[in-house]
Amino acid sequence: MCGIVGCVAEEPVAGVLLEGLRRVEYRGYDSAGMATIEGGALEVRKGVGRVSEIEERRKMSAMAGTIGMAHTRWATHGRVTDENAHPHTSCGELVAVVHNGIVENYGQLKKGLASRGHRFRSETDTEVIAHVVEEEYRRSKDPLRATLSATKKLKGQYAIAVMFQDRPDLMVGARKDAPLIVGVGEKKMFLASDVLAFIGHTDRTIFLDNREVAVLTKDGVKIVGPDGRSVKRRPTQVAWELSDVSKSDFAHYTLKEINEQPQTVVSASIQETERVEAFARAIRKAKTLYITASGTSYHAGLLMKFRLNKEARIRAEAVVAGELKEHAGFLGRGSVVIAFSQSGETADVLEAVKEAKKLGAKVYSIVNAAGSTLARESDGFMLLNCGPEVGVAATKSFTAQVVVANLVVDAVLGGRHSNGSKELSEAVTEALKCDGQVRDLVKEYMDRPDFYFVARGYESPVALEGALKLKELSYIHAEGMAASELKHGTLALIEKGTPVVVLNPTGGTHADSLSSAEELKARGADVIGISDAADDVYRRFIRVPKVQPKFTPIVEVIPLQLLAYHAAVARKNDPDYPRNLAKSVTVK
Ligand code: F6R
Repeated sequence: MCGIVGCVAEEPVAGVLLEGLRRVEYRGYDSAGMATIEGGALEVRKGVGRVSEIEERRKMSAMAGTIGMAHTRWATHGRVTDENAHPHTSCGELVAVVHNGIVENYGQLKKGLASRGHRFRSETDTEVIAHVVEEEYRRSKDPLRATLSATKKLKGQYAIAVMFQDRPDLMVGARKDAPLIVGVGEKKMFLASDVLAFIGHTDRTIFLDNREVAVLTKDGVKIVGPDGRSVKRRPTQVAWELSDVSKSDFAHYTLKEINEQPQTVVSASIQETERVEAFARAIRKAKTLYITASGTSYHAGLLMKFRLNKEARIRAEAVVAGELKEHAGFLGRGSVVIAFSQSGETADVLEAVKEAKKLGAKVYSIVNAAGSTLARESDGFMLLNCGPEVGVAATKSFTAQVVVANLVVDAVLGGRHSNGSKELSEAVTEALKCDGQVRDLVKEYMDRPDFYFVARGYESPVALEGALKLKELSYIHAEGMAASELKHGTLALIEKGTPVVVLNPTGGTHADSLSSAEELKARGADVIGISDAADDVYRRFIRVPKVQPKFTPIVEVIPLQLLAYHAAVARKNDPDYPRNLAKSVTVK
């Protein structure tokens, strides 16, 4: 959940690092810091706060040195303090480390190190790594061997970048169960948690595998496996461009990404037929079928499950990734797991697929980040093609997931998948026109303590998504549920003026949802209808275009995303960086 960026070059790197740091800030924004080596001295500047605040106070961009590394933190071990911010150094300032992950045995390692005279300045597990590497380095005098031996002592997950004060020519990186990517530039090499950190400098990347160690100099990279043997790996080219990581004219990434969706639904639908067919074949052949994901991606998974069960008559279980192993009674040889993940690095998802593979299941994934751990560990994968999603809240990745899942279900149903969807794109453009109405809604309701979202059938996961989005961006308590469940408890919470959003496209469950709306209104709720058909029961009504039933979640989620966004802005929250959250949840 932290962001790492490191660079070895011919010219000073602080500016490049600061730029990279801002781009990976979505991964954690409790604190940040930078280390460089210049004139034989290792310098660290760090502190609590957002990157811009720390830059303001500590002037990281003024640091000298042609080698450096930087970090944005999302605290796991140790409070959010200046001392706990990364980089961390060993006793003699010989070694500096930045780290993403959790060292599970850090307590035990720390005890041993303390008994050998090491003194600690922070409460973090990361500082322990610096001291372990230092011990190994004093023994071997070899940065690669020292890092390799040190990582063998670590239990848990890590992506680390390591610098050695007396070796300003090189940086070492290592990973296990957390992403670390090498960027191969011209006389400029990068190490980062995400390719976004170095886009614009190079599009040539090497995705490190678990337990590999890489040594970077300005001229190249050497990679070794856990046995110390050299690994040959050619760089691959990433398709993302610099313009993908700018906010353009939008106030926030989240708003930009919401507004990109007319294009998202088109690019997500451009898939190789063979890949779609491979998914469909696997689903048809599966003895048991599970769909797994976390958060918003799980909601997209629920939609796929619904269509598979109802239309294709294929039994699929959807289980949140963090719980999959508790529901694995029917997982085994012949099973198929479909995993959804924007980042492809969510620890719960990676753990779930690892367990599933151990039991003999095949894994097919739907991911946005090409080269991500999930994509690489799957038996087959499809990409969302929606470009980088920087805002912490998932928006365009959700609509892309729904598009891709629909292609797969259509193929299971025997239909040919269509490349591009003009009709859907136009409908999304139309749906985005509700922005003004949503702002009015926010003006009226932004101070309400609770919000409810209800729907039936295929729309129910969208109700869950609406509630999740509102909670995480506005910090208003929100619940989403099947409208049929209201009378089994939640109606007791409805008072005069309680806002309840009813998602109600015409078709299948329309009449039943209108009845629920009436029940809510009778108990004083302010019913907010989102539908292609108005009705008197709605106190406020947002019209979305009529689309094919499989696309209704896409047009309905747009006003919900805008609601969450505008509520966040109205309540003076930063919608791109909601408190306590990070975009890639790479810890369990
Ligand atoms: C919500 C949100 C999260 C993610 C979840 C899974 O807006 O962004 O709930 O959907 O953390 O992330 P990925 O899709 O990267 O596995």
